[in-house]
Amino acid sequence: MITTNHFIYTAQNQIIPAGQSTWSAPSNIALVKYWGKKEDQIPANPSLSFTLNNCKTITTVAYTPVENNGEFQFDFYFENKPKEDFKPKINKFFQRIESYCPYLKNFYFTIHSENTFPHSSGIASSASGMSALAMNVMSLEKVLNPEMTEEFFNQKASFLARLGSGSACRSVKGNVIVWGEHKDFSESSDLFGVQFPFQIHENFKNYQDTILLVDKGEKQVSSTVGHDLMHNHPFAQQRFEQAHVNLSNLKTILETGNLTDFIALAESEALTLHAMMMTSMPYFILMKPNTLQIINKIWEFRNETSIPVCFTLDAGANVHVLYPEQNKTEVLDFIQNQLATFCQNGQFIIDQMGNGAEKL
Ligand code: DP6
Repeated sequence: MITTNHFIYTAQNQIIPAGQSTWSAPSNIALVKYWGKKEDQIPANPSLSFTLNNCKTITTVAYTPVENNGEFQFDFYFENKPKEDFKPKINKFFQRIESYCPYLKNFYFTIHSENTFPHSSGIASSASGMSALAMNVMSLEKVLNPEMTEEFFNQKASFLARLGSGSACRSVKGNVIVWGEHKDFSESSDLFGVQFPFQIHENFKNYQDTILLVDKGEKQVSSTVGHDLMHNHPFAQQRFEQAHVNLSNLKTILETGNLTDFIALAESEALTLHAMMMTSMPYFILMKPNTLQIINKIWEFRNETSIPVCFTLDAGANVHVLYPEQNKTEVLDFIQNQLATFCQNGQFIIDQMGNGAEKL
């Protein structure tokens, strides 16, 4: 079994010239949800996600060797503007990964980042953002240690991204990622994401995810606080066990292509996630009236047309509409005609399964 020691950089410190790298990393959408964690970003249960294709963060990191003054030294720009309020997040990330990347304080970093999705869309940018940053850290480490294998590069990138934000570890590779130890996946780990190792049925090829932007406002409760509330949660133990069972079932579904079972599992997971929020203490609700309007419309449409479209939710009010590629035309018509009206400024993002982070 791979342990954290595997990821500690031990090579000699060496002098390298200034340089830079650019990576794009996508967002991902969980089907079996990660909700609840232990110390050091270890998930309370395994999760499975589809990597997305269009919702991405693009990050350039330029590094210059400097004298180690005991601090992390960096500037951060978002869409070419200095962004001071992001710096504590990055500083915390560097702190969390420092024991694995002890070379960080020997460089001055200039970090430029931008998203391909609307800035304040409320869609989780921590997964793509932390993943893009982790890829760049690994590009630097690769310069320091050119012998590194591609497998180690990607595994450590996922490991580092996880320390930034749990779900970010599922954004390094595509198309289907498992994170967290599970009996049916012998290579699975709590420390990093792994690619779904079995054949995936044609039905799921280029699976579509259209993200309906219901509410772009600041969330009242952050994911971090939500995860915390799973400690001492009355239903936590059963929820964690259920996630294991659902992941076993989802494995079979992805192999056999059973869309009816897929729909039931995906929607149940989404509602369970929000049920956990509603039953924690303090309790909270992240869905909005329009979230429920959309869910009901999807159910109505599915009943009437038998088109296998369903929804999932992340930790917010937005709705991810999931459907096979072959139904794209009808479902996009339906979204445009009947669901866009429930979105802020009628906005939605058309996305689908993708291949993971890319070096630019
Ligand atoms: C509901 O990965 O954002 O989207 O590890 O605290 O950064 P932190 O949390 P985060 O939580 C994501 C929760 C979720 C479900 C999921 O993506 O699996």
